[in-house]
Amino acid sequence: MSDWINVTALDQLAEGERIVVDVDDVNVLIFNIKGEFFAIEDVCTHDGSEIASGCLKGEDIECPRHGARFNIRTGEVTAPPAYEPIDTFPVQVINGVIQVRDPRWD
Ligand code: FES
Repeated sequence: MSDWINVTALDQLAEGERIVVDVDDVNVLIFNIKGEFFAIEDVCTHDGSEIASGCLKGEDIECPRHGARFNIRTGEVTAPPAYEPIDTFPVQVINGVIQVRDPRWD
């Protein structure tokens, strides 16, 4: 099983903020939405763009290039032109530290 990776201190990711971290050479975008944490790969499945700078609309993020939308809880596409979901990652908070792991290779 993949290891949990320390991302940042809990108090460094306030509600409504996001951060991109390198997890074993994968850019992972982590959100704090009303105290709940979500993590997705920072790659739009439409054409490989970063998505971290996109607008957040509820639990959907909109790709800044062509406007595809993805649910950050599930990774599912909620608006075209993308049709493949974005990978999501488990997040946990241990002793005030946010951690993620990449289970894709477990
Ligand atoms: S690269 Fe994201 S919608 Fe095209």
